[in-house]
Amino acid sequence: MTTDQEPNILQHRHDGVLTLQIRRPEKKNALTRSMYRALAEGLRSADADDEVRVVLIRGEEDCFTSGNDVNDFVNVPDADEERPSVQFMQAISGARKPVIAAVGGLAIGIGTTLLFHCDLVYAGENAFMQLPFTRLGLCPEAGSSYLLPLIAGHQRASELLLLGERFSAQKAQEFGIVNEVLPDAGYLEHAMNRALELAGLPGEAVQTSKALIKASQQPTLTGVIDTELAEFSRLLQTDEAQAIMQSFLNRRK
Ligand code: COA
Repeated sequence: MTTDQEPNILQHRHDGVLTLQIRRPEKKNALTRSMYRALAEGLRSADADDEVRVVLIRGEEDCFTSGNDVNDFVNVPDADEERPSVQFMQAISGARKPVIAAVGGLAIGIGTTLLFHCDLVYAGENAFMQLPFTRLGLCPEAGSSYLLPLIAGHQRASELLLLGERFSAQKAQEFGIVNEVLPDAGYLEHAMNRALELAGLPGEAVQTSKALIKASQQPTLTGVIDTELAEFSRLLQTDEAQAIMQSFLNRRK
């Protein structure tokens, strides 16, 4: 089932699990404003719906997402709080219900930073991730400058966020970003099975436990996301960042 106005985000409900599937294969699942809006609405609707116990975010089997649609970095360079991407960050960072990610193929930019907000992450063995912000003339977003050092430690976070190189699912597991790496043919099924197991546990207990796990980071996180947003917005408007975006968009012309 697609959402009403957004054909690139599929929603499916099964035994207490709401699956949000990113599906824009012709653009490597790059996220547009309306896709962010649909994802944010999906997460909020899950929190409001007693029937939903767990949210599972996935992409295509061989492509999670190439991150923010670069066209929007050029056409809508102002990163204010009303932006759908910001609404999405707020929805995923504040989600009451557990969020599980199933990552296959590539996960770039927010495709990686959204994982830091998920409670469980499963990846296919050939998945890779990348936080290319500095290479694009930008800086970390979605709370990643705070959450990644917490998850992986300062030096590892600096390696990923400053150098901005691709890294493998195996390395992501070693750094604490991914729970398990599975064969490409089985990671989606495994993630769904874990989601169903979690959905079968007492909901109030699971949600309270999630809230306790996240309680110490939540107050800081909100401020960090705002600060990152201001810096990201400033950098996005520099000639350097705009030239890098344009060269990506013009590379085939
Ligand atoms: N925004 C907009 N369009 C994107 C995109 C993105 N983030 N990622 C891929 N696309 C588009 C490409 O422009 C191309 O469109 P076209 O066929 O109309 O030319 C199509 O998706 C296929 O991508 P392509 O680059 O041909 O595939 P690839 O396998 O060679 O490379 C990527 C895939 C993801 C490595 C490469 O597209 C890429 O680097 N994308 C940008 C990632 C990025 O910087 N995201 C922002 C992070 S903050």
